[in-house]
Amino acid sequence: MPSLRPHPLKFPNKFTWGFATAAAQIEGAAFEDGKGWSVWDDFARQPGRVAGGDTLDVACDHYHRFDDDFRLMRSLGVINYRLSLAWPRILPDGGRVVNQPGIDFYHRLFDSMERHVITPWVTMFHWDTPLALEKKGGWRHRGTVDAFARYADVIVKAYGDRVKHWFTLNEIPCFTSLGYSGALDKAPGILASPQVVNQTLHHAVVAHGHAVRAVRTFGGRGAQVGMADVPNGYIPVTESEEDIMAARRAFTSANDRILGVVTQGRYSAAYLRACGADRPIVQRGDLALIASPTDYLGLNVYYGDFVRAVPGDAGFEVLPFPAGYPKTCRTGWLKTTPQALYWTPRFATEIYGAKTIYITENGYGANEAPSANGELHDLHRRDYLRQYLHELHRAIRDGIQVKGYFAWSFMDNFEWADGYSVRFGLVHTDYKTQKRTPKLSARWYSRVVAENALV
Ligand code: FCB
Repeated sequence: MPSLRPHPLKFPNKFTWGFATAAAQIEGAAFEDGKGWSVWDDFARQPGRVAGGDTLDVACDHYHRFDDDFRLMRSLGVINYRLSLAWPRILPDGGRVVNQPGIDFYHRLFDSMERHVITPWVTMFHWDTPLALEKKGGWRHRGTVDAFARYADVIVKAYGDRVKHWFTLNEIPCFTSLGYSGALDKAPGILASPQVVNQTLHHAVVAHGHAVRAVRTFGGRGAQVGMADVPNGYIPVTESEEDIMAARRAFTSANDRILGVVTQGRYSAAYLRACGADRPIVQRGDLALIASPTDYLGLNVYYGDFVRAVPGDAGFEVLPFPAGYPKTCRTGWLKTTPQALYWTPRFATEIYGAKTIYITENGYGANEAPSANGELHDLHRRDYLRQYLHELHRAIRDGIQVKGYFAWSFMDNFEWADGYSVRFGLVHTDYKTQKRTPKLSARWYSRVVAENALV
């Protein structure tokens, strides 16, 4: 009898499968062992900022439970883990004074990962700027770049012998252009002028350059580094040449500000034209540092906008999503658009020359509770992930060099302005008891990883 199973969609040999999280979202212990305040510790205490008035104080209490968490991760067969380090745990006020208990904590964490044979992929910065730096201007201020450069040196010196995969900064637009353009839901939640907003973006890419420099200088043998970017994604509404060209144009016009400058070492004429009088001030040496060669590009991909070709200078039109389009999260930002995981890596490759790509985040947020028997049938998340991975498989088949995929997120955690009301975990977190329960999606993902194929 022929196999009952459909022909499997196999991923390439040695494909890296992992989970992703970030320090601020899972660790808790927000003021323990000398950790300083981050902008998010402060933001969460401002009335009306975070759903339900939730704070990061306890989160998943991973600070005290990491060993059990790694045992669970390992039991699911996931042996690659993207985590971030909390800058204010290492340098509580962002200055020069190193907090040794903070350094020791991550050594204990890496020890535990080693015991469970899990490889760390470390993000240096995932939005938790030390509050003391924000009080001096934060990312508006060049001093934050210098402070970040010192931080990068400290962590790469401390952990360079055990961490060989680094990511520099996570999703630059979220803590710069959103954080300083009056968006209500991203710390520090300040409204600055357009020039200052462009300057924060510039400062962040300079910081990225310093992070690469730190890894090259102190990372030791075999150390690799790249950014974890979140490009705006654009999907041609039909896969005709005209619509594909239109989507490419949309991709360039939105993403030159980061991907353009880090890969080409200059701001594109189109970007500078769009900035007009509000262009960033660039210091001598910045552009070469920003464009320091990297080993890979990390892409966080959640959704894309649909684009079609239209006559006119821009040559593209972004189509509005109709009411009732499948979407999730409190503000509805996450639209189910699987083709984003085909086109975003493809455009990053074709337009910006990315040679090696890791999908550093992809996931689905909802608010689900266990059923009466304690099981969690998160079929919507499972389906979302499966559809997106199908498109990723198609991109790889078409020659795009995607080497790995990290599902966001290992467990439910503090989802920024949505607090604990939106759950992205493949593992359920009961915030009262801190009990972890793998959802159906975790069981399914575990099989995908084991078979290296879509199942
Ligand atoms: C991304 C963030 C990550 C998580 C997901 C849902 O933008 O990088 O921390 O909150 O969204």
